[in-house]
Amino acid sequence: MKIMTKVPEVQEYVKKLKKRGNTIGFVPTMGYLHEGHISLVEKAAAETQKVIVSIFVNPTQFGPNEDFGKYPRNEKRDLKMLKATKKVSCVFMPDRAEMYADDFATYVNMENYMTGILEGASRPGHFRGVTTVVAKLLNIVQPDKLFLGQKDFQQAAILTQMVKDMNYPASVVICPTVREKDGLAMSSRNTYLSEAERQEALIIFKSLQMAESMIELGEHDAEAVLKEIRRKIKEANVEIDYVEAFDAITLKKVDKFTEKSVIAIAAMVGKTRLIDNTIIEIKI
Ligand code: PAJ
Repeated sequence: MKIMTKVPEVQEYVKKLKKRGNTIGFVPTMGYLHEGHISLVEKAAAETQKVIVSIFVNPTQFGPNEDFGKYPRNEKRDLKMLKATKKVSCVFMPDRAEMYADDFATYVNMENYMTGILEGASRPGHFRGVTTVVAKLLNIVQPDKLFLGQKDFQQAAILTQMVKDMNYPASVVICPTVREKDGLAMSSRNTYLSEAERQEALIIFKSLQMAESMIELGEHDAEAVLKEIRRKIKEANVEIDYVEAFDAITLKKVDKFTEKSVIAIAAMVGKTRLIDNTIIEIKI
């Protein structure tokens, strides 16, 4: 497993891999890896010949009052986990100056409603940072396939559209959310939770499960289901940021569940902001 910190180094390496006819799978991350990240690596290794992982806590996707400074970092542990998979050819871990020179001035910004709703409404500028850094990383790594997690459903939808809009010669593969045994979606931010908060956080997954059962039992009215979720979360003293239902393809809000919809939740557990979602499929 090669470890690279410089852009030209990766570009040279990728050129060589391609010359030898290898396909490249790319897994961008911000590190502090968990089984969710590793599942993307496994999927990439199953679908492509060489896997490249990036670790970069991207400053441009954090708001001024967000947790950039204290975002968890542990490079040594991350590298150990990646090495243990035996499936990673190269880890790209640039420093800030390598990605954003002092005179950096070009941003990639998606200009439709998709970036202004849900996470975009709560975190202004967040997706501009995400599209900018992933555009840069795609130019550096030039993968055949980009692997993303459903955990960040809106991010995956936005990046899928960016890849299409900007004609990147890559396809996007979206992988299922990996959960702890009790259902909590794995997240690097879970490390912020105290023991008590860790238990409180479970209400997010539990309310999604409850929603799934309601829908299975025939409740197709979105507001009725969302109302129950909100009630359940409030009851647990967890502060809701949003609880919404929207079409999985268009990300437009739905009144009735469509063939493929998503219910997404963002909530504050103590000072930690957590997100989760579930895909609802209905035979119409
Ligand atoms: P990060 O939060 O580190 O996540 C990296 C990738 O892992 C994303 O595609 C995310 O959706 C996926 N992921 C996170 N938790 C997961 C889980 N429990 N199960 C499955 N996949 C999971 O998302 C980012 O970093 C950044 O925004 C990035 C795309 C790297 C741009 O900076």
